[in-house]
Amino acid sequence: MPKIQNPNYTLLYYADKIKKMMKEPLKRLDHDQALRSKLASCCRLRPGEVWTDPEKKHRVGALDAANAKAVARLMDTRKAVLAIHDPPYNFRVGIKKRSDHLSSVQTEEYIQSCRNWIQNSLNSMAEDSSLYVWLGADQRRGFQPLPEFMMMMREFKEWVPKSFLTLRNQRGYGTQKNWMSVRQELLFYTKGDPPFTVIYTEIPKVLKGYYKTVNGKVTENLERSRSDTIRPGNVWLDIQQVFYRMEENVPGAYAQKPLSAVERIILSGSETGDLVIDFFSHSGTTLIASEKTGRRCFTCDIDPIFAELTIRRLEHFRRTGKTGWQCTHPFPEAG
Ligand SMILES: C[S@@+](CC[C@H](N)C(=O)[O-])C[C@H]1O[C@@H](n2cnc3c(N)ncnc32)[C@H](O)[C@@H]1O
Repeated sequence: MPKIQNPNYTLLYYADKIKKMMKEPLKRLDHDQALRSKLASCCRLRPGEVWTDPEKKHRVGALDAANAKAVARLMDTRKAVLAIHDPPYNFRVGIKKRSDHLSSVQTEEYIQSCRNWIQNSLNSMAEDSSLYVWLGADQRRGFQPLPEFMMMMREFKEWVPKSFLTLRNQRGYGTQKNWMSVRQELLFYTKGDPPFTVIYTEIPKVLKGYYKTVNGKVTENLERSRSDTIRPGNVWLDIQQVFYRMEENVPGAYAQKPLSAVERIILSGSETGDLVIDFFSHSGTTLIASEKTGRRCFTCDIDPIFAELTIRRLEHFRRTGKTGWQCTHPFPEAG
């Protein structure tokens, strides 16, 4: 075991080891070719097709986010008030783990594709709307593509930058020779005047002693606050990243975002019945968060297997009340 002083890290180290020793219920769905050909026949969408949920009219497409016609087909003339996009970050995640949709290209090529799906989002959104984009900075390649993406966004005068958020993961990499990488960057832009509801964490307020006179009476800050707990601010420390022991874990997915993070964005940036979009569905987190919060969601993934996974996650949630599969998995056809 490496020399790790913090007992929490020791626990995490062994938890990770145990996980690796355990048989994964399903291999990563993006790059195991044998598994992919087995699953291809059980996907209900072929590239370019869209599924409409008969119950709540969510929509899921097997579509390329950068293709204007494909996105127009997904939107069916409707406009969303909130977009939560989590594109691939243009990092190569381990040479063996490379796949068609998770690889690394020249930054310019990557940014051109981003420009296209950002334009497609703009065309799909209401006058007053919010846009969130999860992104990363590759410290081995000049921190690309985060700064280039931010510069590209300045071309879109409609999108006003509002905040640069960071979600702190509990686990990361690079503990011995560098600061452990635990950040997940989240960019927030708006156009017009969209809704914004202040959200609180479950972390109690402990700081007292800010006095102010209100209507002639000296009040202490806790008396004046609207909540006993603190606001998350733009550094989120209170969200557990998804790992295999959690109910929401989706085996086969490799880049799942925590439901609680996406629910927080939805509750803050939209109202019941509003339309939310996510052009990089993967495990369908935005769809499940929308279903749970009474929003409608239009989402897509370029990979029909992930589009199918997204639909199955919704059906599984409705059938069982569970947000993921934890240690079983969504594709019994895989054996
Ligand atoms: C980082 S994952 C999204 C994770 C998702 N937020 C979740 O919680 O499960 C990115 C997804 O984008 C998909 N993708 C890559 N390029 C795409 C494109 N041009 N259009 C649509 N989806 C794409 C990949 O197949 C992958 O499933």
